[in-house]
Parts: sequence; structure tokens; C-alpha cells
Amino acid sequence: METTDSATTTSAITTSAQSALIGTLPATFRWGVATASYQIEGAATEDGRTPSIWDTFSRVPGAIDNGDNGDIACDHYHRMPEDVELIGQLGVDTYRFSVAWPRIQPHGRGPVNEAGMAFYDRLVDELLGKGIDPWLTLYHWDLPQELEDAGGWPARDTAYRFADYSMLVFDRLKDRVRNWTTLNEPWCSAMHGYVHGVMAPGRRDLGDGIAAVHHLLLGHGLATQRMREAAPEATNFGITLNMGTADPATDSEVDRDAARRADGLGVRIYLDPLVKAQYPADVVDDLAAQNVRIPVQDGDLAIISAPLDFLGVNYYFGQQYSGVEEDGRTEDADGNPANRAVPFGKPTTAMGWEILPEKFTQLLTRLSEDYPDLPMFITENGSAFEDVPDASGFVDDQDRAAYFSSHIAAVAAARQAGADVRGYFAWSLLDNFEWAYGYAKRFGLVRVDYETQERTVKQSGLWFRDTIARVRG
Ligand code: FCB
Repeated sequence: METTDSATTTSAITTSAQSALIGTLPATFRWGVATASYQIEGAATEDGRTPSIWDTFSRVPGAIDNGDNGDIACDHYHRMPEDVELIGQLGVDTYRFSVAWPRIQPHGRGPVNEAGMAFYDRLVDELLGKGIDPWLTLYHWDLPQELEDAGGWPARDTAYRFADYSMLVFDRLKDRVRNWTTLNEPWCSAMHGYVHGVMAPGRRDLGDGIAAVHHLLLGHGLATQRMREAAPEATNFGITLNMGTADPATDSEVDRDAARRADGLGVRIYLDPLVKAQYPADVVDDLAAQNVRIPVQDGDLAIISAPLDFLGVNYYFGQQYSGVEEDGRTEDADGNPANRAVPFGKPTTAMGWEILPEKFTQLLTRLSEDYPDLPMFITENGSAFEDVPDASGFVDDQDRAAYFSSHIAAVAAARQAGADVRGYFAWSLLDNFEWAYGYAKRFGLVRVDYETQERTVKQSGLWFRDTIARVRG
């Protein structure tokens, strides 16, 4: 572990107002770091693992920056004990990771692949041995390719396959894992994967995307019901959604309508069925105007609204929307109502995402009002910046540390306003395969030198460690 004393630079990172807010977080607040299987594991063909949709998509020319793929990634599959050691050094109490479905069920169905399961079995034991609580996500986007070939998430059967797979993992690890997340960011799976075509499997059809939304939610509900029936006491189930704020760019009716539509497809199409057992009527109408119907069958909404113990919130930025294109038209190129994100004019990260901690507070406060009695955990929040390592590999990333500071303070502010947020997991433990951006974008608290696989804790990692220690007192 790098020994630089982060205290010398803390004042440049954390304002005194942020420091005071962060100081209000209770000693019981959970602190974690997060990763996802395809982004870090590598070992793509080992121990019976078959291709996922990301292995396939990353072979499509032009799909991923620099032609990168996850074949090796951070080589975590082979370096897992060393990485768990690092997690321990950061002083967190929780590690959020995901399980690769193609390791557990190489054909997307059928019996458990013991060699693949053994990896997660060892990971869980390694974590518990260091006093770190495993927070397991069952699906962080690596659908077995064979299931995509059979129709993917637009096919109803995939929901049932997901529930079967979930039970294989659950039966093996339920004696040691207390917190289970079904899906990570179904919006990305459905919209980026099946509508925008920028993530695996790279399809472009609104109807397919909306069918995917419904079947992802159905899979979540089926898996949650079955796991809960088989669960030991004090086992918690939840789902992680990526959410932002959708403000109207002006007070005009057309902008307010654009914001309503963005919020409908970004937040309410997930949380309304999950919490209220219904799809939002305005979203259903908007979709009908585009000849798209959500393929709901009798009984589905009762399954989808299976009780949740927590909501995982992934926040990166907020947006404001205009219903008017730059050329003044109120329809987009496809003849649908225009929905244009208008920048606030704030500084951005290397992803081009505006840095808007105040929108994080706004989002959490709104969620606590519209969907009350649902404890929240921040399951991801973080930033990519252009890191410049020194000769020893150390990165003095005060920009990233400042992002964490302002956003953790924003969480504390939301708590003060009544939002029931109980933990914060930084994205990410390591620099890793950032999907369509390949290895070009780095989010880690720990730098990875991809030539040598050497890990070096960054200034942000030291700041995070010291902040956790301070809050715990
Ligand atoms: C989220 C993903 C995560 C990571 C961050 C930057 O959408 O869940 O895997 O890529 O964005």
C-alpha cells in the first residue's frame, strides 16, 4: 500500500462545508467499493466459462474504443486474494461484486458448473476472512451468448432462465451472503443494449428494448420470490437502478413534457412496477403513440412487485431536457417528440458527464418522497479523469477525490433532508474495462497498470480510507 500521507492535501479536496456534512454520517453507515465481473475478471475461457454478449459485442469492429475486450481485464480471476487484501487496506466494510452467469451456467441453462462456482465460493470466504461483507449482484450485463441467440431479454423465457440461474448461486452462497442484488441497471441493459445499440448485444429497436425492460423486471421478481422462500433469516434482497434527475430546461410546457418523458423512461418505468405494481400510465401512452406495448401478462405485476429490502442507487449525473431541437423543431429525426438534453454548463469528468452533486441530493430526496419506506444504498458513484501516474505509479487524483467528497456530502445532505440512505459504495475499486470505452476511461480508487497488472492506490483511495476512518470515529 502506498504510504503517502493524504492528510496534507485534504483541505484541497474537501471544503469545510463538505467535511461538516460528511461528519454527520452515522458510525453505522456502510462503506464499500464496487466492481463487476466482466470489467475485472478476465480469464474469459477458463474453467468452463463460455462467451457472454460482451465477449461477442467486443469483437464487433468499432463497437469498443481501441478494439479492447475483457479477455484479460484486471486479471482479477487469478489475483483475487491480492485484490481482497487491497479492499481490506481501504478500510471498507462491504465489497459489491457481480457473478458471471456464463461461469455458473455456460449454456444459460442446466446444472451448475462447479469450477466456475468455486471461484465465487473462494471469493466470499476470502472476504469474510477479512471481515468484509460480500454484496452480491447476480446480473451485471454478461448474459450467456446462447441466451441472446435464443432471443435475449426481449424473449420472456430469459426471465425464467435468470430465476433458475439465481437459485443456483443462491443455494450455494446463501449461508454466507446476506445482501443480494438481482440486476444492475436494467435501463442500460434494455436501452443501451437493445435500443441505442451502444452496449451488448448492440440491437436497435424500441419494441425490443421495452420488452427487455419488462422481462428484466419479471426476472428480478421471479428470482426474488424464489430466493426469499429459500432464504435464511436476515437475508436482504434488492435491485440496483441507475438514476439521475430530469429537470425541464425552461418552464415551457414543451420542456416540462420532455422532462416528464425522460423521467418516465429513466426512473418511473422501473420503480412504479417494482414498488406500486403498475406501469406509469403516461409512459404507457407515450409508448402506444410509437406503436409499442409493454408485453405484460396476467400476474406479472404481482411478481415484479415482490417486496424489496433495499433499493440500490447508481448516480453519476443529472440532466435537464428540452422538447425543442436546436433547429427549433419539436420532433426528432424519427418524428417522435424531441427530447434533447441541454447542458447546465458545469465542469465535466473525462466521460463528458457534468459534475452535479446537488442533483444527487435532489434525486435521493425525490426518491424518498415518491417511493417511501425503501432503504437506499448508493451502490455506485464515481468519476473518470485523465490520470497521470508518477514514476512510482502513484496518481495524485485530487479531481476524483474532490468528486467523491462533494458527492458523499450530497448524500449526507439528502439524509438530513429525510432520505433513508444507509451506505455508499464507490465505483470503482480498480481501473477496469469501461464497456464501450474499453480501458481508456479510468474510475478506480486503485490504479491498474495493464502492462504489468500492478495495482497502486491513488490519492482518492487514500482520501476514501481516511474519510471512512474519520466518520467511524
Ligand atoms: C455504470 C455501470 C458500471 C460502470 C459505471 C461507470 O453504468 O454499472 O459498470 O461502468 O457506470
